[in-house]
Amino acid sequence: MTAQLIDGNALSAQVRTEVAQRAAALTARGHQPGLAVILVGDNPASAVYVRNKVKACADVGFHSVLEKYEATMTEAELLARIDALNNDPAIHGILVQLPLPKHIDDHKVIETISPAKDVDGFHIASAGALMVGEVGFKACTPYGCMKMLESIGMKDLRGKHAVVIGRSNIVGKPMAMMLLQANATVTVCHSGTADLAHHTRQADVVVAAVGKRDVLTADMVKPGAVVIDVGMNRNDEGKLCGDVDFAGVKEVAGHITPVPGGVGPMTITMLLVNTLEAAERGAA
Ligand code: GUN
Repeated sequence: MTAQLIDGNALSAQVRTEVAQRAAALTARGHQPGLAVILVGDNPASAVYVRNKVKACADVGFHSVLEKYEATMTEAELLARIDALNNDPAIHGILVQLPLPKHIDDHKVIETISPAKDVDGFHIASAGALMVGEVGFKACTPYGCMKMLESIGMKDLRGKHAVVIGRSNIVGKPMAMMLLQANATVTVCHSGTADLAHHTRQADVVVAAVGKRDVLTADMVKPGAVVIDVGMNRNDEGKLCGDVDFAGVKEVAGHITPVPGGVGPMTITMLLVNTLEAAERGAA
């Protein structure tokens, strides 16, 4: 193995220690950070994610509430709950776990969350703020990826070429914006990109966020490049794996994030950072 691992668990622990200290200071002033997590329906993966988010809140001293609703909840009922939480002074962040049942419009739900409490960073106001370089909440997964780059001395990416594979609203697009803000030259690729390897071989940083195994193999990576793996898939043995052929790519890359233990823990950590910042803004 030539690549150095970027350890998401270790970096998360470091960031969460700092979050806990700042949360304690706010709590002492009567402003304990509070997160509301809403789960509608019984998607088993979502149930695990929301449990982990609520546990992470407890670990850093946040107040949190988990509201679970039947899949039959109507859109109007959900919007009314969000409205109530928008007006609840004990709640600084609101997270509605996606995907929602088919009869509920995700977009309408996200836009009902107050931008001041949009700790997922999915609201149009948050995406727009990122686009024009103003203050707003950053989507947690790409924000975590940027922290990982920062942890290896790559905060400013001037002169570097970054390739993002994937264009989802919650990872690929905001990732590209954050890399641009960090002065990288950015190429965004996706399933319709012809000769993907042509692009990735030129990259100093590759972020794979497709949701498919082996999207990035060793022959597609420039020696010494930094490879960030956002994927979360299962291999033939049922084990968790990312979008990157880790065994092959680690022999070529300079740095690489593992799955599990890479980007995953950072996503929840950045949710905590956003919630803390929402509370700090509220207390200012
Ligand atoms: N579903 C998958 N990832 C996420 C996320 O980061 N936030 C929310 N709310 N739902 C998700």
